[in-house]
Amino acid sequence: MGSAFPVPESPAALAAALARTGYLADDGLATAGYLAIRLGRPVFLEGDAGVGKTSFATALAEATGATPIRLQCYEGLSAAQALYDWDFPRQLLHLRAVQAAGRDADPATLEAELYDRRFLIARPLLAALTTSPCVLLVDEVDRADDEFEAYLLEMLSDAAVTVPELGRIAAEYPPVTVLTSNRTREVHDALKRRCLYHWLDHPDTEQEIAIVRSRLPAVSARLAGQVAAATARMRALDLLKPPGVAEAIDWAAALVALGATDLAPALADATLGAVLKYREDTERVRAAAVLDAAGDAP
Ligand SMILES: Nc1ncnc2c1ncn2[C@@H]1O[C@H](COP(=O)(O)OP(=O)(O)O)[C@@H](O)[C@H]1O
Ligand SMILES: [Mg+2]
Repeated sequence: MGSAFPVPESPAALAAALARTGYLADDGLATAGYLAIRLGRPVFLEGDAGVGKTSFATALAEATGATPIRLQCYEGLSAAQALYDWDFPRQLLHLRAVQAAGRDADPATLEAELYDRRFLIARPLLAALTTSPCVLLVDEVDRADDEFEAYLLEMLSDAAVTVPELGRIAAEYPPVTVLTSNRTREVHDALKRRCLYHWLDHPDTEQEIAIVRSRLPAVSARLAGQVAAATARMRALDLLKPPGVAEAIDWAAALVALGATDLAPALADATLGAVLKYREDTERVRAAAVLDAAGDAP
């Protein structure tokens, strides 16, 4: 069942398809995405929070018509949550039904019945092996622990998982896989070696203006330019949490909601909460007088 992943004609064709969903990828990212599809290699996206890692995977699925499947990683994520689990309540009901029917099955037959595929709950990694075409997003893999990385590596290497009671379940068409990391820790070399690596940087000002305008058509070119320029100046300071694209978009949305057409310093100051999330950062930005020039175009 299912069909092969549709391969775009070129990185540029993929970038154009992504742009139609509102996601703007530069050449490097479009090439990484293209190669991931073409070579069947997972792409490992690393970068600061808010630079567009998660939304790249979502946009890739939308642009190619593939099913998006997401696994959000966290500390303590286990195989039962990532791969598969047995549907215990349904297994119990089945046992009861057998009893009620007065069937005297021998234990071995009964056990085989209980470990039937229909009682298996496919968690994201297993679901990705049995859905095609699909984009599997393993999000924030740096938050999971070593044990989980080992499952992931095995699943990515073989495009299969082994369920002890059932045997091996292999993908007919392996998923296009995107792994992301905010780099709160280094992910193991073994996992990285399997992947194409791409560092996703903050966009330059021109690209950021284009992204803001793509996401918020209501924002004027002038305001988008002022927001991108002020955000870029903030990133040059040594902040605890430098604003990402997400924050630039939020800021522009807040300004549009206030009916602003121009980023006057007082308004910039009043709306800082859309961009900065730490009191220390707000103070640093004020002290550096970044907002005095907020009304300037880039
Ligand atoms: N290149 C881009 N094109 C369009 N939107 C973007 C781009 N980069 C980021 N965004 C937007 O910024 C926000 C944050 O992106 P996200 O993917 O959640 O970042 P990350 O996963 O890196 O933390 C999302 O709303 C996303 O749509
Ligand atoms: Mg993310």
